[in-house]
Amino acid sequence: MFEFENVSLKRDNRLILKDINWKVNPSENWAVLGLNGSGKTTLLKLLNGYLWPSTGTLSVLGRTFGKTSLPELRKSIGWVSSALQQQLREYETTEYIVLSGKFSSIGVYEITTQEDLDAAIKMLIDCGGASLVGKEYSILSQGERQIILIARALMANPELLILDEPCTGLDIFAKQNLLSRISAIAALPNAPTILYVTHHTEEILPCFGHTLLLKKGEVFASGKTEDILAPKILSGFYNHAVKVVSLENGQLTVFPVGNCF
Ligand SMILES: Nc1ncnc2c1ncn2[C@@H]1O[C@H](COP(=O)(O)OP(=O)(O)OP(=O)(O)O)[C@@H](O)[C@H]1O
Ligand SMILES: [Mg+2]
Repeated sequence: MFEFENVSLKRDNRLILKDINWKVNPSENWAVLGLNGSGKTTLLKLLNGYLWPSTGTLSVLGRTFGKTSLPELRKSIGWVSSALQQQLREYETTEYIVLSGKFSSIGVYEITTQEDLDAAIKMLIDCGGASLVGKEYSILSQGERQIILIARALMANPELLILDEPCTGLDIFAKQNLLSRISAIAALPNAPTILYVTHHTEEILPCFGHTLLLKKGEVFASGKTEDILAPKILSGFYNHAVKVVSLENGQLTVFPVGNCF
């Protein structure tokens, strides 16, 4: 799906990403875990071609950067982030926002058919948004907006779906609802490869079989989730002793041990 080989990114004389080596195969879904400022969103911007490596090579979907058309590449990548949420047109109805994903544009400028609109409505329903059809985007709650954004991203049939902290701002029920939607999408026969970026281990669903830990712009560890989310590795990652507790639904939660201050 993509491969980073010794990729570094420098900005203002500072290395934001350092010597990243990371290979993701199409059949794998990955979680990326890191503290604020560790470089997660920057890593995603490289994948989308919004930033270029200062050194090293990056190939995405079999194309090497510098030798491929970026707009074409971006059509194969669905990206859900809070930055995108702010750009959408608030007054549009949900199905038109979902439909705009087919053209990877903000707003619909192409001539569309009833068939296109029906496909957008079906996608919204498949993503759990049946009650949102016909509603104006501006009135939706944060959790409802995330469902719209995921349905929108899926309209272009992406090969790679990137979710950058999709549960930010959601209450416990909206969060669990969105997580079960993501699980259902991952189980679809023609599901895209999913990358899920988060601060929280309890959002790493069983469908994310692999995890990368990013610390201060460097890969601290990467591999099978069950091996990576182990107390010893996580204590080193957080520079603090932690306890890992398995929840009933197969997700894990992490607690600091002892005084944090
Ligand atoms: N264009 C830029 N110029 C200079 N510094 C930048 C630029 N973009 C990001 N940074 C810095 O790089 C670091 C990593 O930022 P990034 O947004 O990738 O972190 P993150 O892991 O996504 O954090 P969060 O969890 O808060 O979203 C931060 O210290 C940020 O200030
Ligand atoms: Mg970020």
